[in-house]
Amino acid sequence: MVEKKHISLTVNGEKKEADVEPRLLLVHYLRDNLGLTGTHVGCDTTNCGACTVILDGRAVKSCTVLAVQANGKRVLTIEGLSPDKNRLHPIQKAFIDKDAFQCGYCTSGMIMTTFAILKKHKKLTEEEIRAALSGNLCRCTGYDNIVDAVKEAEENVEEEGIELEEPEPVRVRR
Ligand code: FES
Ligand code: FES
Repeated sequence: MVEKKHISLTVNGEKKEADVEPRLLLVHYLRDNLGLTGTHVGCDTTNCGACTVILDGRAVKSCTVLAVQANGKRVLTIEGLSPDKNRLHPIQKAFIDKDAFQCGYCTSGMIMTTFAILKKHKKLTEEEIRAALSGNLCRCTGYDNIVDAVKEAEENVEEEGIELEEPEPVRVRR
């Protein structure tokens, strides 16, 4: 029997603690242990980016990170993106306004990557947007609408004066 490791991390502003097998991937911890199924698994080759989440401010493919590596860190998933549960985040709104998805399987990963790139850079050229999204694959849209959505998201975030920060921890739950 594999010895479990204790982890303590913040997910979408909530402090979480668990005992997990050292081999457990972060994506499976989020989906199976916490029920945060908005983070998708789209491949088994670390190519598609459907599993992208924000880990201490950086976009990571959560299928390439062990849950134990997230110990002591902050994780933001698509479920925690909007600070107000009754309102979409401006990045989500932009993806809807620009018809930037079809099946939607890649969309939460695209949105989380967009969060990370807008957090880092204010204005991006189209070329820079395409390069920044190169780790996220979409099998449906042809990417043009996604690029438009990122540009619109940039404007929405600026207009609404939204701070792209992960929420602070508020309570402990196992
Ligand atoms: Fe992580 Fe495809 S599921 S990159
Ligand atoms: Fe279907 Fe991107 S919308 S994979």
